[in-house]
Amino acid sequence: MSQKNVVQLNAFGPLYVEGDVEVLDAEGNLLRKESGVWLCRCGNSQDKPFCDSSHIAAGFPDDGVFIAKGGEAPDDGGPLRIVALPNGPLVLRGPVIIYGADGAVGFAGEKCRLCRCGGSLDKPFCDSSHTKIGFTT
Ligand code: FES
Repeated sequence: MSQKNVVQLNAFGPLYVEGDVEVLDAEGNLLRKESGVWLCRCGNSQDKPFCDSSHIAAGFPDDGVFIAKGGEAPDDGGPLRIVALPNGPLVLRGPVIIYGADGAVGFAGEKCRLCRCGGSLDKPFCDSSHTKIGFTT
């Protein structure tokens, strides 16, 4: 059986993604293929899309708890591909379950866009605030 792909939100900190994980840039270049990776969601990392702990100095205020949305992830497994869009969100494709910092399942599905600028009012999802705040990568 394939490994389940899981995103865990950390209170006031990054996303931890576990499973069969590939992180790519917008051109499709593989940045990392790992079973566990920390991804920035505060927008301040100097090593985007990866976390470099800048959320601590930045005082990233999000507690990582959110209202559930999304349906059931398929049982099959398979890779989770995460594309870091320039000046925009992380685009997730593949079966994934997202847990809030409170341990509750917040999303289960195969497609979503996660905020990495820190400015979304619908965290952890992108609400296009990155455009308004002039987020650059
Ligand atoms: S990346 Fe933060 S709102 Fe889109």
